[in-house]
Amino acid sequence: EKGWMVEHLLQYNGYWFSPSTSALKGAIFLQHHFKPRPTDVLLATSPKTGTTWLKALIFATMNRANFELSNHPLLTTGPHGLVPFFDFIFQDDDSISSHRALPSPRLFATHFPYSLLPEIVTTSSSGCRFVYICRNPKDVLVSKWLFMSKSRPKELPNLSLEEAFELFCRGVSHFGPYWDHVLGYWKASLESPNKVLFLKYEDMKNDPVVHVRRLAEFIGKPFSAEEERNGAVEEIIRLCSFENLSNLEVNKGGMQKFSPEIAVDKSNFFRKGQVGDWKNYLTEEMAKRIDQISDEKLLGSGLRFGT
Ligand code: A3P
Repeated sequence: EKGWMVEHLLQYNGYWFSPSTSALKGAIFLQHHFKPRPTDVLLATSPKTGTTWLKALIFATMNRANFELSNHPLLTTGPHGLVPFFDFIFQDDDSISSHRALPSPRLFATHFPYSLLPEIVTTSSSGCRFVYICRNPKDVLVSKWLFMSKSRPKELPNLSLEEAFELFCRGVSHFGPYWDHVLGYWKASLESPNKVLFLKYEDMKNDPVVHVRRLAEFIGKPFSAEEERNGAVEEIIRLCSFENLSNLEVNKGGMQKFSPEIAVDKSNFFRKGQVGDWKNYLTEEMAKRIDQISDEKLLGSGLRFGT
């Protein structure tokens, strides 16, 4: 399917992939070489649902005993530099051995749908845990369309919002269909609540304290009474807030390299960081159609998107 970029997306086991991202090559490598550890935490997301934010939040929560605020790695490296996507890094023998050598607990991110992850990772005996974040599909579409428009090579004609909307509704987007991606992790979280923590972007925005506490408990590092008294939760939320991260020099420009083929301007990961910005872009009809697809897809699942 042609569309979002210059290349065609390829469909593999029901999901759409960009052939140039090496994601599929990464999947094959994972299958054969990745050795999960019980302490591994994997952040799973669909693109544009809050990956950058959650990378920062989980990193800061997990490593809070190791760093002072004044010299925190997030101030100089940025979320994507600190938490690698394992879809893209496991490409060759060197990357395999260097990531095997990482000390525990390791933190990785992935865009892979749950059903396409190797069994050695998803099986309960692997012990590793997933944090998933989902977001209202209308905001995801708008965020993705604007992100792709900025990242698009100048010589390519613009993709109109109408075209992007049609592709998205048909499920044709990177690691999409979006709804299937969400449902895969949702079902896994119902079956194995100790293995998959399912979060919503809108809930996180609405009450970050509650959800960062849940996150800390889930990864086995609950906040102590003393930390609570000292405002450690609020400190992490402030450090990782849109306002703080987007104003840091390290996130304002320069390319973030994910693999030999993919590099993205770091500032493109920070746009508005709000709930409901779709209202400024989508027509009433477009919104209705997305809601209708959501109703159909989520029927009987017990899941509702945040608003
Ligand atoms: P918008 O385009 O709606 O602003 P991802 O990290 O998965 O690519 O998602 C990017 C979206 O998350 C963008 O949404 C971006 O602005 C938002 N975002 C980035 N950092 C954030 C933060 N610290 N808090 C809340 N939202 C954030």
